[in-house]
Amino acid sequence: MDWHARYLQQAGWTKELRSYLFQRAGVDEAKNILEVGCGSGAVLKDVKGPARLSGLDIDLAALQECAVNVPKAILTRGDVQHMPFSNQNFDLVFCHYFLIWIKKPDRAILEMKRVTVHGGYILAFAEPDYSKREDGPCELQKLGRLQTEALIEQGANPSFGAKLTRLFADCGIDVLEAGMIAKPDDNSKRSTQDWMMEWKVLENDLEDRIPAEKLQELKKLDETAWQNGYRMLNIPTYFAWGRV
Ligand SMILES: C[S@@+](CC[C@H](N)C(=O)[O-])C[C@H]1O[C@@H](n2cnc3c(N)ncnc32)[C@H](O)[C@@H]1O
Repeated sequence: MDWHARYLQQAGWTKELRSYLFQRAGVDEAKNILEVGCGSGAVLKDVKGPARLSGLDIDLAALQECAVNVPKAILTRGDVQHMPFSNQNFDLVFCHYFLIWIKKPDRAILEMKRVTVHGGYILAFAEPDYSKREDGPCELQKLGRLQTEALIEQGANPSFGAKLTRLFADCGIDVLEAGMIAKPDDNSKRSTQDWMMEWKVLENDLEDRIPAEKLQELKKLDETAWQNGYRMLNIPTYFAWGRV
């Protein structure tokens, strides 16, 4: 599985939102910006402005890829729940498709807050909620159930997304804006490339959960529904940002 390609696809879904929120959060005046859970740098590479860019991730291989994709970034290996940074170190701290993977997301948000200057901003651009996933036609609902099970097994909290804003507020962040991202889930805006990537992820996640021929049956059903315009897929994905 080419995870960088998947992260680039997800980054495409949030491009406009990130550009708008970064402007509102004063990206052009920021001196120090941190992405927690930066992965291969699919999002970090897009950050504009004069700030010094930093990325933190727990996975060494991801950081090695990030070093290639974002050569100017200062990269640190570490756990977001105990970051090796002093208090009030960054003007902007952000994450993208990340908190869903963290055992104690409140601990992560408090750490993000600790390393942000007073008056600085924290942004969570995209946290999906698979418990609210909708699939149509109904024969494809199985896909959503299987993927949710696979995510739990991989260590994610699939129902995190809808809790994001509440958690920001509970952690003492002055929430400025929150909502759901507009994603090309509806058939008219999904490209063949998007569909193929979605299936690469499904095949990767479900290979041990369902016999290969059953999975291929679902894939065929999905393809027919998608090509004929009656495939429905909605995974609500939330954002929130606020002042520290
Ligand atoms: C789904 S990827 C998202 C990568 C990047 N934010 C993006 O959108 O392209 C999640 C990343 O979080 C990292 N991660 C998971 N748990 C972490 C933790 N406790 N501390 C720091 N990074 C972590 C993973 O290694 C992975 O690179």
